[in-house]
Amino acid sequence: MDQNELKKAVAKAAADYVKSRLDERTVVGVGTGSTANFFIEYLGEFKHDIQATVASSEETARRLKALGIAVIDLNSAPEISVYVDGADETNEHLHLIKGGGGALTREKIIAAVAKEFVCIADDSKLVDVLGHFPLPVEVIPMARSHVGREIVKLGGDPVYREGFVTDNGNIIIDIHNMSIVDPRKLEQQLNQITGVVTNGLFAMRPADKLILGGKDGLKTMS
Ligand code: A5P
Repeated sequence: MDQNELKKAVAKAAADYVKSRLDERTVVGVGTGSTANFFIEYLGEFKHDIQATVASSEETARRLKALGIAVIDLNSAPEISVYVDGADETNEHLHLIKGGGGALTREKIIAAVAKEFVCIADDSKLVDVLGHFPLPVEVIPMARSHVGREIVKLGGDPVYREGFVTDNGNIIIDIHNMSIVDPRKLEQQLNQITGVVTNGLFAMRPADKLILGGKDGLKTMS
């Protein structure tokens, strides 16, 4: 199986899982990215059974609506039963790097609310130590230089994602060349920098379940 087929396989497994748990109160949180896009397509196959979804990006909302799936504002959702999303990297503790697509803040908010966070990925995303993938940080535009200097103090190389604006009107700084041996500590340190909206480490609130696709089939970790 190539990487796209692996993404499809984990997306299908997550859709089957969600379908098996649907009831009249279920609100599904839906992630952003190429793996999440396959999940959205599978959701479309049982859209009449889905009460509502909450989208982690404008792009995901557009895709859901195009399939006729109801998208509601998070503030109107009594709860999110299950949130399904991809990741850019994961370790064996289900700590993640997310935000390669720039949707990290809304993704983190949905993860914070969700009763269960199911991460789906092909097994190229599983690493021993996070940080090979540049860590995205969403930043208020006027704080760009300040945040960059603070990131250097923490040992990383900040790179401004030129020409990219988040759904929230902010910028992204990607941190390169940082081996993240203590993801929970770094997540909190970055959040302490004035001007940082959020960072792409999901370690304080890791995934609850990880469905990984590899050449030998699917593996679920929790
Ligand atoms: C979006 O901002 C990201 O967090 C994505 O969830 C993550 O980048 C995974 O994307 P792919 O499924 O496209 O690899």
